[in-house]
Amino acid sequence: MIKVLSVTSECAPLVKTGGLADVAGALPLALTAHEVEMRTLLPGYPAVMAKLKKPKKVMELANIFGGNIHVLQAKVAGLDLLVVDAPHLFDRVGGLYAGPDGHDWHDNPERFSALCQVAAKIAREGVDGWCPDICHGHDWQAGLMPEYMRGHADRPATVMTIHNIAFQGMADPKSIGRLGLDPYRFTRDGYEFWGKVSALKAGLMSADQITTVSKTYAAELMTEEFGMGLEGVIDARRDALSGIVNGIDDSTWNPTTDKAITPYKSVSGKAKNKTALQKEFGLKKSGGPLCVVVSRLTEQKGLDLLLQALPTLLDRGGQLVVLGTGDASLEAAFRAETRHKNVAVHIGYDEDMSHRVIAGGDAILVPSRFEPCGLTQLYALRYGTVPLVSLTGGLADTVINASPAALAMECATGVQFSPVTANALSVALTHLCDLYASKPTWKILQRNGMKQPVDWAASAGAYAALYKDLVK
Ligand code: ADP
Ligand code: GLC
Repeated sequence: MIKVLSVTSECAPLVKTGGLADVAGALPLALTAHEVEMRTLLPGYPAVMAKLKKPKKVMELANIFGGNIHVLQAKVAGLDLLVVDAPHLFDRVGGLYAGPDGHDWHDNPERFSALCQVAAKIAREGVDGWCPDICHGHDWQAGLMPEYMRGHADRPATVMTIHNIAFQGMADPKSIGRLGLDPYRFTRDGYEFWGKVSALKAGLMSADQITTVSKTYAAELMTEEFGMGLEGVIDARRDALSGIVNGIDDSTWNPTTDKAITPYKSVSGKAKNKTALQKEFGLKKSGGPLCVVVSRLTEQKGLDLLLQALPTLLDRGGQLVVLGTGDASLEAAFRAETRHKNVAVHIGYDEDMSHRVIAGGDAILVPSRFEPCGLTQLYALRYGTVPLVSLTGGLADTVINASPAALAMECATGVQFSPVTANALSVALTHLCDLYASKPTWKILQRNGMKQPVDWAASAGAYAALYKDLVK
């Protein structure tokens, strides 16, 4: 058994703002088949604390950023959790990273430094007789973990996974002492980034291995277009970098057992769910495809392009259902589109509704400007909902474009477009409507998608192989 400590700022089903939580929540269970025992270290936000039943106090750290910290051990939803109970840092009304006013918590560097300090202490001393062989951190919130472990004799090996390079964990250099960082490493070869401290860069410079969530994103990260200033750092570490595509949790996202929908085994079973979705959103029957979006409404997701290309879909009798929340301007813009009889929008975050939307849609639209992996197109494939995606990151790796050749070989699963512009999206929507109009072709796309393996089996094996190499 290889013992791995996963260090993460969110984890489904306890707390989630995006795909990171899905991955952090599903990977430990998928790894058990590969002789890997993973425990998950995460902050004790109110939503997490509320779900702990009879937790055991297993560690104490005195006076970290003005308060004492306890580490609580508990099992929730099959996950072995280690929870950082630090009310002065995590017991707050608001979001995981931002307050009710929408601004980042002013002490985010300290909050996630505390998470990483606990990880480093567990790495050094073990916890309740359990010592990790590997510490695996996710995104900038775990970036200081490998930094704090530098130079420790017999330290466990470290892995950093980049889920999204857009968030880099910046802090004022005045906080170097307070964060317990080595001031001599405030250099280009250390954690300095444009005159600031970057927790993500610290992790990328110090971890033994770096992974990201698709092969294409791994390659993109080394380019100016996608690296967001860190392309040089990543390129310099290319020998330590690999891309492992995300899977989906088959127990949550499975159309044959899904309790949020009318379950189905084959594409014919989708019809009931489509009718129910149209009813739920007040849409009538229409001749074109019912396209759906389940997404954070942010610049990354390219949904402003969809607003521009929407007339193409509507002119063909297509329909649009959007479930999302995020930037106020995008929320307002989508709400305004409901003036069309074939557009319906729900602004909000709703897990059950996301299942109904994905099961009921004919197609899902993911026109992201960049997408490290993307999970909703994977759910869609599993549910026989045809993905229309931009040709980037994990979207490029998980969808097979319905080109004439792929259609002839009956391996196509969706539609891809490039460049990521409103014009190209418009052309792709036309293509989608043409495919939909030919019922036999559409069925083949759906069936191919449903057959594609999108669970964790292969990727959990890839993580296990990486861990095995590291402990050799
Ligand atoms: P990202 O992590 O960049 O947001 P992913 O596609 O990897 O993108 O993951 C997004 C996750 O969040 C998926 O599980 C998706 O179903 C979920 N999600 C996004 N928006 C909503 C919403 N409004 N309601 C319910 N689930 C949502
Ligand atoms: C990020 C990315 C998304 C990815 C998810 C989980 O939030 O934006 O593409 O699927 O992390 O790895």
